[in-house]
Amino acid sequence: MIASSKWRSPSNIALIKYWGKYPHQIPANPSISFTLDACYTETELILSEKKSEAQFDFDLWLEGEAKEGFKPKVEQFFRAIVHEAPFLNQYRLEIHTANSFPHSSGIASSASGLSALALCVLSISNLNRSLTKADFYRKASEWARLGSGSASRSVYGGLVNWGRYEDLEGSADAYALPVKAHIHKDFLTYRDFILLVEIGAKGVSSTVGHGLMKGHPYAEARFAQANRHMGHLLRLMQGPNFEEVGYLIEQEALALHAMMMTSDPYFILMRANTVKVIDLIWQFRKNTDIPAYFTLDAGANVHLLCPEAHEQAVQKFVEQELTPYLNQGKYICDRVGQGPVKLK
Ligand code: DP6
Repeated sequence: MIASSKWRSPSNIALIKYWGKYPHQIPANPSISFTLDACYTETELILSEKKSEAQFDFDLWLEGEAKEGFKPKVEQFFRAIVHEAPFLNQYRLEIHTANSFPHSSGIASSASGLSALALCVLSISNLNRSLTKADFYRKASEWARLGSGSASRSVYGGLVNWGRYEDLEGSADAYALPVKAHIHKDFLTYRDFILLVEIGAKGVSSTVGHGLMKGHPYAEARFAQANRHMGHLLRLMQGPNFEEVGYLIEQEALALHAMMMTSDPYFILMRANTVKVIDLIWQFRKNTDIPAYFTLDAGANVHLLCPEAHEQAVQKFVEQELTPYLNQGKYICDRVGQGPVKLK
């Protein structure tokens, strides 16, 4: 072994959704997410003498099992950053990775996976020696973005923005940054019950979905809406405006899925139980006045968000009323997290 690095990096859940991109992973609109805590990937990158003539001599294991299927996305990532990390094609690379959650369940494994890998590559890289802590994470975010757009947001904890938004100082299309604007403290301890409606690979990948925004009849209106929502969300999050923030979050989730349903070709990632669960959440809110609101990723699962103060009541509701509609009754209790951790 010549060198190695190991990181744990979390997944994230977008409140303002990234859906649509330009070449070189430039987002069509700015996005904002909560970094998660319980959902993460641990990745170790190990360098040894190169054995093959291939440009990149690497193998990847997920929980000890060789995963050929993941290699194209990783190779594309290496190709995008090798001019800055030339060691990538000078050594043999072993990537050992494990998720704390089911792969391809709609929980963004590419966000945690690619951010963990970007952090490992940067830790080993010579560049690392000349970077301040802030520049290290900015570079890691930039590299993670080249692997998967949403991964750019996973290198920080709390509330994170990726994509240029003129009223957010320092915001950029090239990398994500933690939101520095004032945010009411109760949003930073939000709970996220991830309701697993479906476990298993989803029908259409996010990358394909982003591509379908090109020439989409509603694309411009959607990008303008996301920009408007950025301003609203940042303003509303200054105070404990749980209802207004929740409304905006649900609107974003449904707008994302509306784009999928109106693409050419069209597709639906929600399942019957996704809609059932949403309906029960709406009923629960009406009956209790508890500000529990949902969001959706590019999948069938539902993220149920609420302030920490309502955690127990919401968990009881999930247990008693929602589990019959979940795959094997499964859900994950998560919360806003602190960001990646270096393990080695
Ligand atoms: C719906 O980041 O997975 O989760 O950049 O092609 O890897 P690629 O796509 P990806 O897209 C995530 C889309 C989303 C919304 C979001 O996380 O903002």
